[in-house]
Amino acid sequence: MTKWKPTFEFLLLLVCLLALTGCDGSKQERDKAVEEAEKAKAELARVEAIIEEIQSERDELKENLATISENWEKANSELVVVTQAHDDLLDQVNELTNERDSAILQAKDAKAQAERLGEQLKEKTEELRAYEEWVKELQATIKDLEGQIEEIDNQSTEQSAEEVSEQSNDTREPDVQFVPTPQDVVDKMLELAKVKKNDLVYDLGCGDGRIVVTAAKRYGCKAVGYDIDPQRVKESLENVEKNKVGRLVRIEQKDIFTLDLSKVNVVTLYLLPSLNVKLIPQLEKLKPGSRIVSHDFGMEGVRPDKVVKVTSNEDDDEHEIYLWISPLKKIPD
Ligand SMILES: C[S@@+](CC[C@H](N)C(=O)[O-])C[C@H]1O[C@@H](n2cnc3c(N)ncnc32)[C@H](O)[C@@H]1O
Repeated sequence: MTKWKPTFEFLLLLVCLLALTGCDGSKQERDKAVEEAEKAKAELARVEAIIEEIQSERDELKENLATISENWEKANSELVVVTQAHDDLLDQVNELTNERDSAILQAKDAKAQAERLGEQLKEKTEELRAYEEWVKELQATIKDLEGQIEEIDNQSTEQSAEEVSEQSNDTREPDVQFVPTPQDVVDKMLELAKVKKNDLVYDLGCGDGRIVVTAAKRYGCKAVGYDIDPQRVKESLENVEKNKVGRLVRIEQKDIFTLDLSKVNVVTLYLLPSLNVKLIPQLEKLKPGSRIVSHDFGMEGVRPDKVVKVTSNEDDDEHEIYLWISPLKKIPD
């Protein structure tokens, strides 16, 4: 609210009026005028004090205004920063919302796919179970048939043994006496020959049949042992029976120099150097890639592909094993 302020001119006019009216006036009037003037002065002083107070209040307000303006500026620039941050966050929120939406879609897709795969898995599991049942049935049938085969083989082995004992008139003296190859040397011979399941192995002069029995047992291949001595043939047949390899192994009483070797993959020998040489024309009929392994004795005139030495645990002796791979490499004279 605006307060009234008597100006200096107003006060002067008031004094003049009092003087004019008081020229002829009484002392009483003059005193009254003096009193009025005193009052006016006091009023002036009061008003001046008020003015001073108001000025000081205004200065204070000015100061406050400056401070508040400064704060306002600060707040304004903070507002700009915060607004920018807010906008950035909004952008991020939008981006994240988009990402979330596409993740939701992907998750839905994956769920549908998983459900489809689950169905397929269930079907396959049932199919597998049916096949497993079938396999069990087939295994039982195979077991049955194998039992029958073994029985038949054993019967034919017994028959062969009887036949052999009746053949005594056809025999002649062996070209070399029976000396068995130690079992660990037999193992090494077959290893060196790299015998495979599909190979046909011949042991020429089979003795007690240990080489052919080992080949069948270890590699599951077919093998035939030939010996001219009926006693050795009998022992071989017993060995075959004892090891239950009658399905894979055949033993024949025959002179090895009459044999056709054209279908054989592996030939094993433990004879004599001269007998090995005598076998060359038959060994030359072997298919390419066939292997010949000989215990202790080489073959004069034919270069071996490998010679290895083995110390047997049975006799503590060192044994040599020769390997030739068909076709034979003749050493020129
Ligand atoms: C040294 S033994 C080897 C036995 C067997 N191969 C081994 O390594 O254990 C030689 C065998 O060859 C037989 N033998 C010798 N001359 C033969 C021939 N002309 N035909 C068939 N076998 C023969 C002998 O009866 C004897 O059993």
